[in-house]
Amino acid sequence: MYDIDLSLIVAMTPECVIGVRGKLPWGNIPSDMARFARITTGVGTVVMGSKTFRSILDRNGIPLKNRKHIVLSRNALSRRSRDNDSIQYVSSAEEAYAKIAATEKKQACIIGGEEIYRLFLPEVGRAYVTTVFATLSGDAFFPDFGAGWVKQDYRKEPRPVRARWNPRDEYETTFAIYERPEFNK
Ligand SMILES: NC(=O)c1ccc[n+]([C@@H]2O[C@H](COP(=O)([O-])OP(=O)(O)OC[C@H]3O[C@@H](n4cnc5c(N)ncnc54)[C@H](OP(=O)(O)O)[C@@H]3O)[C@@H](O)[C@H]2O)c1
Repeated sequence: MYDIDLSLIVAMTPECVIGVRGKLPWGNIPSDMARFARITTGVGTVVMGSKTFRSILDRNGIPLKNRKHIVLSRNALSRRSRDNDSIQYVSSAEEAYAKIAATEKKQACIIGGEEIYRLFLPEVGRAYVTTVFATLSGDAFFPDFGAGWVKQDYRKEPRPVRARWNPRDEYETTFAIYERPEFNK
């Protein structure tokens, strides 16, 4: 087993909706985007499924700045054609673990979507969760967290905010961190 530190970051409605038709179910929540950028840039390496990677490219036109991307896909063609220094395609969780273990910090943040959260959740020790207070339908959901998670003091946030209201936020949000103590000894 690899000695690596895995966290995840997700924004979801109280009903665990995270996506619809390949996109986020909400339009613009700048306060959450800022938190996402701050946390994932601090970690340095992000892990995602090919559908989430596509949705980032559709939305931003470019990959995430200053972060190494590990993209899961079973499609060999897309993997070969697009590998470079900051974007590495892998075909299994095992291969992703090996890539993370080879990074300087030996840590990564799982950024979704549903299939990828399900795949990595058993190995994740810390979860950065944004609750988006909206009633929205979707076709991608965050899976059941399972037992053993402990909510952390909000001051553990990289910049301690429980919720930061940006006037352009489409919905109200709250931020929380959960940890599994047995992963963080
Ligand atoms: N709210 C949030 O925080 C948040 C975060 C991220 C994403 N999302 C949303 O979630 C939705 C996407 O989620 P999703 O579950 O449909 O897709 P996804 O998890 O982003 O990507 C699924 C793809 O990952 C690859 N994959 C999955 N398991 C694999 C494995 N074991 N080995 C190798 N490759 C594997 C496959 O790619 P290939 O088909 O290329 O083989 C699969 O089609 C979108 O709506 C997105 O906007 C929301």
